Amino acid sequence: MISDEQRVRTLERYDRHREVWRKNEALRILYAEWYGRIARQLPDAALGTAVEIGSGPGFARSFIPNLELTDIVLAPWHDREVSAHQLPLPDESVGALVLFDVLHHLSAPAAFFDEASRVLVAGGRIVMCEPYLSPFSFPVYRWLHPEPLILGVDPLAAQVEAPGGKDPFDANQAIPTLIFGRKRGLAQFATRFPGLRVSSVDRFAGLAHPTSGGFSRAPVLPLMLWRLLNAVERRLPSWAYRLIGFRMLVVVEKRPPPFRPGPASA
Ligand SMILES: C[S@@+](CC[C@H](N)C(=O)[O-])C[C@H]1O[C@@H](n2cnc3c(N)ncnc32)[C@H](O)[C@@H]1O
Repeated sequence: MISDEQRVRTLERYDRHREVWRKNEALRILYAEWYGRIARQLPDAALGTAVEIGSGPGFARSFIPNLELTDIVLAPWHDREVSAHQLPLPDESVGALVLFDVLHHLSAPAAFFDEASRVLVAGGRIVMCEPYLSPFSFPVYRWLHPEPLILGVDPLAAQVEAPGGKDPFDANQAIPTLIFGRKRGLAQFATRFPGLRVSSVDRFAGLAHPTSGGFSRAPVLPLMLWRLLNAVERRLPSWAYRLIGFRMLVVVEKRPPPFRPGPASA
């Protein structure tokens, strides 16, 4: 349950992020690339509607126009208010669920995957762009980013909410890597959600990400130099991002129901 105070604070965050976004060209370039990656993973629109969970400031609208925008705290640019833990959507009605920097803000990620399993049609997808903890990005996320990073948790266990309820921007940046960036997490996910299949995990985004300044700092480099860095990094082979990546794109697909043979005909 979101309190009035949390609601006001969250709306102020949206406004702050929209203001930074307007001023920071490097950030807009990065988001265009990253939403482009998401768009390429979306299944055919004929499969069902595509819904973004946790749209926050609503940047997705510029890149994937037919996406339905939702958040746990409603703003004028959202289509409706939706909690990831209790999706107000009929069973098997959705083609895609998009999460951009949202999984690591959920107090109960497993509750979201249960709901996703229910609402997705067979072949429907969850497409997530989240922080990735590589040897290079870990110290940056741990010591230079304002959000907490706690490795010693079971990422699929229900999390206890803080007294007064969890703030929508409370986070644990480790959650996506603990589930999808490690063999153990992937095995745990496969056992817990047999109806879902992790179809790809791509690591990307090097120093161009933190040097853009993100939403919490000023850009570190002049734009021309930053563009050069970004262009060079985009030419790196994908294996390099296991070591230096700051981001991961995770695609999870709902399996078709198991085949059950009908009664044998005479
Ligand atoms: C870091 S913001 C990301 C916003 C947006 N996707 C973007 O990348 O600009 C995280 C968002 O997740 C939302 N959120 C947190 N918990 C949620 C929940 N249980 N259900 C739906 N949205 C939630 C927050 O309100 C916030 O807008």
